[in-house]
Amino acid sequence: MKTSGIASLLIAGALALAGQSALAQDAAKGEKVYKKCKACHALEAGKKKVGPSLAGIFGRTAGTAEGFKFSKAMKESGIVWDDKTMDEFLAKPKKVIPKTRMAFPGLKKEADRANLIAYLKANTQ
Ligand code: HEC
Repeated sequence: MKTSGIASLLIAGALALAGQSALAQDAAKGEKVYKKCKACHALEAGKKKVGPSLAGIFGRTAGTAEGFKFSKAMKESGIVWDDKTMDEFLAKPKKVIPKTRMAFPGLKKEADRANLIAYLKANTQ
């Protein structure tokens, strides 16, 4: 019957939306993921560890944090950090910047990256 066809389309649409919100960014979960970054990165401006401070990272060009000696590869990458570039980099840093000095294999789970990016956005500006 025609109406039930429409109804099932609507249900499919609702389910697709629900699926999307399951992947929505969750900063609280992202804080847990950030534990993997903590040893090397601080969120406070100007505080460097093994890696540069991530304060103000979004919208900034890669390799320009003040007071940190970046690899040539990072400085020459020309990347501007936004949701997309951050997601790609965090999935597999060496795929995006083969010679980066960031010794981190990457975050395989898309949800982990999305949550982490939400957490970083909330805590780096
Ligand atoms: C083992 C230490 C280490 C870990 C763990 C690590 N990083 Fe890094 N990260 C670095 C280093 C070192 C650099 C500078 C790399 C270069 O110059 O090539 C860097 C660079 C970066 C940059 C570029 C910064 C800029 O100003 O352009 C971002 C963004 C970043 N890391 C995010 C993360 C996130 C998010 C995590 C956790 C998932 C993480 N890193 C885990 C060491 C680390």
